[in-house]
Amino acid sequence: MRKIGLAGERPVGDSRVYKASHVFPSDLNHKGTLYGGKILAEMDVVGSMAAVKHARHNCVTASIDWVDFLCPVHNSDSICYEAFVIWTGNTSMEVFVKAIAEDLKLGTQRVAATSFITFVALGEDNAPAPVPKVVPETEEEKQLHAVAMERAKLRHIRKEQSEQIARTLSLPIPEPKQMI
Ligand SMILES: CC(C)(COP(=O)(O)OP(=O)(O)OC[C@H]1O[C@@H](n2cnc3c(N)ncnc32)[C@H](O)[C@@H]1OP(=O)(O)O)[C@@H](O)C(=O)NCCC(=O)NCCS
Repeated sequence: MRKIGLAGERPVGDSRVYKASHVFPSDLNHKGTLYGGKILAEMDVVGSMAAVKHARHNCVTASIDWVDFLCPVHNSDSICYEAFVIWTGNTSMEVFVKAIAEDLKLGTQRVAATSFITFVALGEDNAPAPVPKVVPETEEEKQLHAVAMERAKLRHIRKEQSEQIARTLSLPIPEPKQMI
């Protein structure tokens, strides 16, 4: 058994997670393609597993920077999610998630969606806890890591904007009869 340490640095590869599943009729929208919400939920689950593997702590989703649905996924496809930590701050981790669709009969594969999700590690006291620094190794990892600081800066600006907007929003929850 390989002992995974909690030293100051860990390679990206140590956090890598894959999850593959068949696309079932219950997962399809009215156009016969996979629901975006289903893809998002799976990305969050697989991404959080990568974050926990890296931090060896419980983690919460802090933000989803962006999600691009690049092509539709059909009933005849399988979908494989791959996630890994690509950048670390002090207590936060940016996880890259890609969804690869495969036409099972033809054997052709395509990148169906990508996302960057930020998770924060929580200690026993439920406060943000420091995480090991992540070290990219492959060409793909290095490319994604190279512009991670720029994404982190944009996240910071966007978070401030979200907080500003939240302060101006009305709070009352509608009466039950007004809900659909
Ligand atoms: C995410 C959360 C733990 C941050 O807590 P906080 O008290 O704001 O902590 P801090 O301001 O000290 O930030 C801690 C880290 O999170 C990062 N962070 C906080 N909010 C963030 C956001 N919206 N997007 C990206 N990173 C964020 C900070 O940049 C900081 O990173 P660093 O330590 O690497 O520099 C807190 O806002 C929270 O619990 N949010 C709800 C999470 C949730 O319910 N998710 C859905 C279910 S999992």
